[in-house]
Amino acid sequence: MNPTVTRPAWTTDLELEIFEKIINQHAPHLPKKRLHETKPPETTEEIENFYRFRVAGAAHDLFIVQVCANIIGQIPDPELQLFLSQQIGDDGAHAENTRRRAQVISGRDPIEDIQRQVQKHWDYMGDLPIRNWQGFLAFELHYEMHIVASLLVNSRTSKISDPESAKFSATRIQPEEAFHRVGVVKWWQRKYDQASPAEKADLVAQILELDEEGQNRRNPYLKEHWQLTHTAIGTDIDDLPKIYDAWRQEVLAYFLDTPVSRLPQLVSVND
Ligand SMILES: [Fe+2]
Ligand SMILES: [Fe+2]
Repeated sequence: MNPTVTRPAWTTDLELEIFEKIINQHAPHLPKKRLHETKPPETTEEIENFYRFRVAGAAHDLFIVQVCANIIGQIPDPELQLFLSQQIGDDGAHAENTRRRAQVISGRDPIEDIQRQVQKHWDYMGDLPIRNWQGFLAFELHYEMHIVASLLVNSRTSKISDPESAKFSATRIQPEEAFHRVGVVKWWQRKYDQASPAEKADLVAQILELDEEGQNRRNPYLKEHWQLTHTAIGTDIDDLPKIYDAWRQEVLAYFLDTPVSRLPQLVSVND
């Protein structure tokens, strides 16, 4: 029996189920739902912090666009290319919306600040995202999959938000990101299912190694970004390292078709 066929499909319901399990174990005090209504940034300081937070969000999306645009011509896989063309369009639209909302709120066009932050992603990730298809998969895991639990914590605990951005997020970003995650899962499963048993073992080892490299590369950024998120929108970040590590384990267990208990000791965001 092929275990990749018997695993449940990767859906937002499955994500929530895994997230609740992790929260019950590592942060049972976190609210099950948002407790407070958010308010827009008002003071000069709130607006400045919110601006920096939005610039970081747009940079995350624009970096994805730049990486995918680079890779789309390098991997001659039409199925992947069609998926990436959609990801580029979607994440580009997310970056553009975030840019324009930041511009309305701050009164200045953030495009140059955004590109400066994108350059930081290139600097710390190095050639990993575009090294080969396995490196690109590790990039997709880090930029699309591993961040999900921390975004769910943000959505329950944030105190400041822009109502226009929240609307765009609910109607466009959230469903499109769910689609991206499923697209990454499907691409990987196609590659994995086509491999022989010996190749499968080899692929799992390669992906683990590159995902670990990605984690080491991202650790300083993640810490800094969580601090910025806390300062800008008031999210609860105390338990994020434990939640992040546990979520990443679950994602890798699913991708590599290996129970969490049989994964090797992984790099922690705290390392
Ligand atoms: Fe996005
Ligand atoms: Fe995305």
